[in-house]
Parts: sequence; structure tokens; C-alpha cells
Amino acid sequence: MKIKALKGFKDIVPGEVELWQRVETVARDIFTRFNFSEIRMPILEKTELFARSIGEATDIVEKEMYTFVDKQITMRPEATASLLRAYVQHGLHVQKPIQRLFTIGPMFRHERPQKGRLRQFHQMDVEVIGASNPRVDAELMAMGAMLLEELGVTVTLELNSLGCPACRPGFRETLLAFIEDRYGSLCDDCMRRSTTNPLRVLDCKNHSCRVQVEEAPSIQEHLCQECSDHFSVVQAGLQQLGVSYSLNKFMVRGLDYYTRTTFEFITGDLGAQAAVGAGGRYDGLIEQLGGPKVPGVGFALGIERLVLLLQQKDGVETAQGEIDLFIAGLGEAASEFVFPLVHALRQKGLRAAMDYEGRSLKSQMKQANKAGARYVLIIGDNELEQGQAVLRDMQSQEQAEIAIDQNIIEMTQLLLQRIAKTDTC
Ligand code: HAM
Repeated sequence: MKIKALKGFKDIVPGEVELWQRVETVARDIFTRFNFSEIRMPILEKTELFARSIGEATDIVEKEMYTFVDKQITMRPEATASLLRAYVQHGLHVQKPIQRLFTIGPMFRHERPQKGRLRQFHQMDVEVIGASNPRVDAELMAMGAMLLEELGVTVTLELNSLGCPACRPGFRETLLAFIEDRYGSLCDDCMRRSTTNPLRVLDCKNHSCRVQVEEAPSIQEHLCQECSDHFSVVQAGLQQLGVSYSLNKFMVRGLDYYTRTTFEFITGDLGAQAAVGAGGRYDGLIEQLGGPKVPGVGFALGIERLVLLLQQKDGVETAQGEIDLFIAGLGEAASEFVFPLVHALRQKGLRAAMDYEGRSLKSQMKQANKAGARYVLIIGDNELEQGQAVLRDMQSQEQAEIAIDQNIIEMTQLLLQRIAKTDTC
């Protein structure tokens, strides 16, 4: 019996991995333009870190974490808590008052797998720690929008404010009163949630709950003056940066640490898994994790969902990288000559390949074609004796003879460059 990967865990094979590389390259480029530095954290953390930050009563902590119960450690379900733990542990606030950090890597949640929802998934996560200015919230959303635009992914940006410890309890009471009248029509989860975290009732996916909360009060109208001002500047900032958005009073997020700004990048092309990325502000969290009293804001994009969108747009398979040169060695002496030649060309920076099985010229040409070789250098035992090899341009089918001597590496390189030049003319 073949052993398969676990449910919800996925291999990323050649043909798809090129899209991952594209997504990560564009992201790294943009993060650098916005002056972010990379940070990498371990996958295992103390369970308490996530209970304290994401919240005991959240789905993630209650049901979805991969926890080694005997050791009180958990495979990280998201990056923010780990990143902040590292920030506090290394006293990064002492080095710089505002830290702009990003990290890319796998996260783990025991969710029901479906299209765009995995148990091991990957996030590109960015956090700005130490900045309370609402313009930073707008700038972050603009950066996310820029990244998605450069990838050619179309999304809408949804925005909300969840207030702060000063105004949210008041809204919670107002909402509870509203929910109480409709309690009997809510799903079991929402009945339970309405006592622990009534705001979660607002974003229940269940149709009957959605109908019930349609007329629910909006938190945006219950913000204290400071939160309201903050929210106004965020929106003005988005307008200044030309980022379109819509307000969504139902967005509450599945993690408890948010204050004020929350946002999601939503796509209509992935069915139920509509959020390509999401984030918000978490002003009390660093202190809650034993760190200094500094604010923070950030977001994470899901790489699997981005890759799915690119595949839907560009077709499932992307071209795997093409090689520059395939060297077809025919006969024992030629193969012996080709082996170190391929190595030397790779040292010079060329992407080169050869055949190791002593195949016929026809079969080696097929191999070269399959590998997408731009040129093939044919060296048989006869050619070796006569000191001449044949370089074939696989696109134009033109051939040129080149001398086999100590200069063959330079010659091959030069010829490739010359042909490449005529290609671009
Ligand atoms: P989140 O909304 O839980 O937020 O996840 C962010 C993104 O990760 C989602 O929008 C989605 O694209 C992707 N994602 C989440 N779960 C899965 C899954 N099971 N399979 C595939 N993709 C998934 C956070 O994790 C916060 N830490 C974001 C943040 C950063 N807030 C502030 N800073």
C-alpha cells in the first residue's frame, strides 16, 4: 500500500512550485520597498502563547490547534503571536522604536479541509510594531493591495473597526440586547457564543443567523471619540493612497486580539474561502504577552489561496524553468568529456544538463526538448576526435560548429550570448 500525505497536508510539486516562487518573490520585493525586514521563528511554541493572544474562546484555540498535550506545546496556528513573542524576547523595541517585520512560512490548523483550506497552510505575514498612527494602518492595506495588484489578483478590501476596551464593552451590551430577542433562531454555535463572545455571532456563516443579524447595530456607530477619529484617518489615508474599500460592520475576525482597525482582502473566485488575506490592529497585545506597552498592526496573506487564484487565471501548469544548454555526449569518450564540461558551465552560471544513460542522439534530443533546452551542444566520439562540436539553436534549428579545445567553455558562453542577442533583436 502506498503511503500518502496526511489529509489537509499538501506537497508542492514542480509545475506549481514556480507559482509559489513568483508569489514570494513579488512579496519580498514589495516588503523591501516598504522597508520591512525578515524574521523567522520556530514552528513550535508554548501553548499558552496562543491561548493568551488569540483567545481561549476562539475556534482556533478551542478546536483547531495541533497541541502536544503532554508537553504543553503547539504548532503555531498563525504568525502574529510568535512574532510578537520573538519581538519581546529579543527586546527589539530597544533597537528601534518602530519595527517593521515580515515572515513567510507554514501554519497549522486542524480545520475541515476543502478548496483553499488546508491543515498546513502558508502565510506571508507583516507586522508594524510601535506605531499608533492610523496612517500606518492605511499604508499596510495599500501595501497588501499593491502586492495583490502586482500578482494580477482582483480582490475587494473590506474594513471595520472593533473599537477598544473603552468602547467595545458598551457595544457588546447593545449587541447582546439585540441578540437576546433572536436567541431561539440562532445556530447552536451562536447560542453558545452569544455568552462568551457575542460579536462572533455577527460573522456566522449560517444562513439563518445571517438573516437574524442583518439589522444588528453597527460597531462603527458605537466607537468612542478616539476610535472614531482613528477610523476616520484610516479611511482618509486609504482615499489619499487611492485604495478602494467598503465598510463591513459584520467583520469581527476569528482572533480575539484586535482593537480598532480590522480588514480582509476578499475574492469572489474561491467559493467559501473568500479571504485571501486579513489583519488589523492589536494595541494591547504586546503588553499582554509581557512586553512593553506598544501598539501594533499587521496582516497575513494565505499563499495557497493566492496560488489557486493564479492557477485559475493562468492555467494549472506553469512552465518549469527552461535550461540554457543540453550537452548531448555520444559514446563513452564523449560522455567522459561532457561530464566535467557541464559542471564547468554550471560554475560559469549556465543552467546546463546532460544525459547519463548513454542514450542515442534521437533520444537525447527528445530529453533536451522535454527539458525546454534553448540550445544543444552535440559532441560525439568522432566530433571529439576531429576537435569540433555542433551547437544547435532549438528554436531556429540553426547549427554552428565550435572548436573543442581549452576555450570551449568561453566559446560556448560567447556563442550563447551572441545567439541570445540576436534573439532579442
Ligand atoms: P487569519 O484571518 O486567521 O489571520 O489568516 C490570514 C489568512 O491566512 C487568511 O485570510 C487566509 O488567506 C489564510 N488562511 C487562514 N487559515 C487558512 C487555512 N486553513 N488554509 C489556507 N489558508 C488559510 C491571521 O492569521 C492573523 N495572524 C493575521 C494578522 C497579522 N493580523 C495581524 N497581523
